[in-house]
Amino acid sequence: MAPAGYEPLLELKGDAPELEGHAPRTPRTRRKALTLIALLGVVGFSAFYTLAPSKGANYAAQGSLGFNADADDQLAKCPSGLPPAATPPAKVNPFASLTIADTVSVSEWLLAPERGLNLTRGDKAPQLADNLIYHVDAFRPVKKDAVAYLDNPDTVSPPERFARVTIHHGAAPEPYVMDYLVGPLPVSEKTTMRKLTEIYHRDSIPFNARGYTTMSELSPLLTVIMPPLSEVTEDLFGGSARGLPNDTLVAAIVAPLSFDGAFRRGWVSWRRNIAGPWLHPVNFFQYVDFSGTDPSQWKLLKLVYNHQVFNSTEAFLDAYHDGTLKRLPHRPDQDPSQGEWSTRKRPTLTAQRDLDNLPGPRSVSFGGLRFRVDRALQYVSWMGWGMYLGFDKDMGLSLWDLRFRGDRIIYEASLSLLRGWYTCQTQIRRRSLLPRRPSRSMVSILIGYVSDRAVYVNASPAGNDPMQTTTAWLDRFFGMGSAVRDMIPGYDCPHEAVYLPATTHNFEGSIVRQRAICIFEHDSARPITRHTGYSEGEFGATRGYQLVVRSVSTVGNWFIHVTLSNANK
Ligand SMILES: *[C@@H]1O[C@H](CO)[C@@H](O)[C@H](O)[C@H]1NC(C)=O
Ligand SMILES: *[C@@H]1O[C@H](CO)[C@@H](O)[C@H](O)[C@H]1NC(C)=O
Ligand SMILES: *[C@@H]1O[C@H](CO)[C@@H](O)[C@H](O)[C@H]1NC(C)=O
Repeated sequence: MAPAGYEPLLELKGDAPELEGHAPRTPRTRRKALTLIALLGVVGFSAFYTLAPSKGANYAAQGSLGFNADADDQLAKCPSGLPPAATPPAKVNPFASLTIADTVSVSEWLLAPERGLNLTRGDKAPQLADNLIYHVDAFRPVKKDAVAYLDNPDTVSPPERFARVTIHHGAAPEPYVMDYLVGPLPVSEKTTMRKLTEIYHRDSIPFNARGYTTMSELSPLLTVIMPPLSEVTEDLFGGSARGLPNDTLVAAIVAPLSFDGAFRRGWVSWRRNIAGPWLHPVNFFQYVDFSGTDPSQWKLLKLVYNHQVFNSTEAFLDAYHDGTLKRLPHRPDQDPSQGEWSTRKRPTLTAQRDLDNLPGPRSVSFGGLRFRVDRALQYVSWMGWGMYLGFDKDMGLSLWDLRFRGDRIIYEASLSLLRGWYTCQTQIRRRSLLPRRPSRSMVSILIGYVSDRAVYVNASPAGNDPMQTTTAWLDRFFGMGSAVRDMIPGYDCPHEAVYLPATTHNFEGSIVRQRAICIFEHDSARPITRHTGYSEGEFGATRGYQLVVRSVSTVGNWFIHVTLSNANK
């Protein structure tokens, strides 16, 4: 795909051009190595191959720019910024997300009276005591079927497509949650539904163990228990929560809400309503029971302020009025160690940093992009590598049928879970995929969502936060995929990156993010091999080009970041 007037920029001595995805499988005189590297908070893998040095190879000449002198005769043209078309091994991506049309037709099919599901439409402000389609997503095919198709796409049909549907049966006499398999898709007279019980290995899921449809689910209780406290919270925290848009305190509630779904209870943590509220807890917590579908039955069980536990609002107010309440040394909004440091607004700089007025370095592929993309199929290939992309609400980006020169190296590379928690002792946010962050002992610390640094939150001794100490953050629940927002060119990915859309669905509808995934090749600017030796063909370095397929999910502050490293000498 070199534009007219250019010769390929890289001389590939003795190497036939690669055919995408299905190059011959004949052994070559190549060393091929694959390494799996878990990067920080990252599902990453990195693979490389090197050319065995040919006899008498001239390293200076190899890889040098080879412009054609004749090019001067022609009108110079910049190469296209679009990626060249790819040739996926199979014409159907068996791992594709559902389209909006799929989701709409599945929902309409389920809502039809003949299904007898008595569903309330998601956009009609459903109540807990209604039946509701909570979630619709693609149900990925059985590996055996997908592989049979991918290996012989001309003779084997692609696997049938199905949707996994989660329904909250809030209107049932004993409310419950049920997963269903609906298909085949597109919806036709062949479409049926059955209970999908092979995921949790139980018939139904207890209603109290369901996901939140909205974070304001608790409002009916909070608007009862908070207004009577507003004068006290103004005095203690400089804020209140009356259930108004201008509330200066905001709540968070977490999970798990029980271990077996017998009840639905959790700690409400109050924070200041400023940028990054989770970094500004005010040391005030309420333990609430919101089991079942009837908010009038919900109740406050316990209350904690500055290490003191109260079993009712009255007990707390009594201590406040009779002067026995031990107050925090500072009102949180007047704490001299605080301030609104968690804002993303750029502070007024007292002094410009040296040379910061100049633009920083940029990555540019002068000869045009060296990877291929099939946008409709979400297939990417580069330097003999090829893979299909998948995307779902729970875990976001995934990679499928990853091949090198036609050989399947990885069938599926995806996250199954992200878990984070604050330890009791230090309240360090830890992720199962992250190494432990440095701690400042004896003070409560959070690793900021908005910052990579450990930040000082409040001067209370460690382990006093009943919410964090009882919480495992299962971020799959919050939706790694639905939390994805459009990436910012030049910030999240280089300017020349290629963006792909992703669609996620929830009970209210579908959202398409046009820049959910970015793909780019860049020079890591470090060799992936370097050797000094004295025999012929022993000395050399291997360039560290990488293909990056990236999606940024801001549930917390991590990347799903997949890097393929390649080397051409
Ligand atoms: C259907 O659901 C509504 C709540 O949305 C409920 O009031 C009604 O009783 C249900 N009907 C049947 C037949 O279950
Ligand atoms: C918040 O809004 C309410 C109702 O609009 C108003 O009475 C109150 O003064 C407002 N509070 C603040 C702090 O602006
Ligand atoms: C609350 O605690 C007090 C003192 O410990 C106790 O006397 C009272 O019975 C408790 N009330 C409830 C509702 O548990």
